[in-house]
Amino acid sequence: MVRALTLLEAGQCVALPTETVYGLAADATNELALEKIFTAKGRPKNHPLIVHLASAKQLEQWACDIPNAAYKLAKAFWPGPLTLLLKKAPDVNNVVTGGLTTIGLRVPSHPLFLNVLEQFGKGLAAPSANRYKQLSPTSAEQVINGLNGRIDAVLEGGICEHGLESTIIDLVSETPRVLRAGPITTKQLEQVLGFPVATPESHIEVVPGNVKAHYQPNTPVKMMTEKEILALVDCEEVPNMHVIMHSQALSQTLTCSLKLAQLTLLPNNAKEYGKALYGTLYRIDKLGTQLIVVQLPPTKEEWRAVNDRLSRAAC
Ligand code: TXA
Ligand code: MG
Repeated sequence: MVRALTLLEAGQCVALPTETVYGLAADATNELALEKIFTAKGRPKNHPLIVHLASAKQLEQWACDIPNAAYKLAKAFWPGPLTLLLKKAPDVNNVVTGGLTTIGLRVPSHPLFLNVLEQFGKGLAAPSANRYKQLSPTSAEQVINGLNGRIDAVLEGGICEHGLESTIIDLVSETPRVLRAGPITTKQLEQVLGFPVATPESHIEVVPGNVKAHYQPNTPVKMMTEKEILALVDCEEVPNMHVIMHSQALSQTLTCSLKLAQLTLLPNNAKEYGKALYGTLYRIDKLGTQLIVVQLPPTKEEWRAVNDRLSRAAC
């Protein structure tokens, strides 16, 4: 921890654990440090970064014209996996926002990240700690796999609690809307706000960086229904593939046609499934299969974040 702080104070990048995914952190007020994030990730410069704060008390340093809704949400969900999109304060540098007039802010709940933030005293910009467009890491090992030699250090903080990136809510647009589904559902946001929040049914590209093809493993991913998977393994030339599913019955049926090493059964529970998803994709990616087939998950509200990430992985 001391080393992470020393490196951050010296304007270097350090990967830190959050409760969602590992982030690649740097001093959000230091333009040179921020440039190192873009270089390490190979991320285009106009893609905005989320700034992480130690507490909601720092909101006014980064945002202006803050609506009451922001304070309500911060009180209910911070520290936690919710990013608030607000109008940026005039003196915030343009590197962190990719030249936009808005800024994404959140207080993470992982004790190590929070501790670093409290001692650092300033905001830390932190995108997910992966190469551009690839899967977000949910363990320190995955960070090293993707960014070894490109960053200064990783702070080991175990497996991330949620395993999927934070929910992003836009509080600048006329009606609040969810820009990225995540661990906090629209229903939970509405309960706190007391009015409806828009949730676009399909993906919308609002700003650079929120692109459709994202969160991708190297192996192609296809989403299929149970029926389609059974038809595929029934055909004469079954591709060299791995199947990820949440249905125990399907998993049992497939053991007749595929080897156990080609099957991954994930929990039939949105939170647990989400937590395991990226780690599973990382692992399968290393097996050298030609195709990853994913059984289409349920479409209920709590599965929205999982469905969103899978639809992007399968692009
Ligand atoms: O859970 C998370 O949010 C993780 C951890 C590390 O905190 N961070 C993360 O950051 O996922 P990143 O940079 O990988 O994804 C941030 C997303 C991008 O899609 C970006 O376009 C969007 O947030 N974003 C950031 N600032 C924005 C802004 N001002 N307007 C619209 N979208 C913004
Ligand atoms: Mg990312």
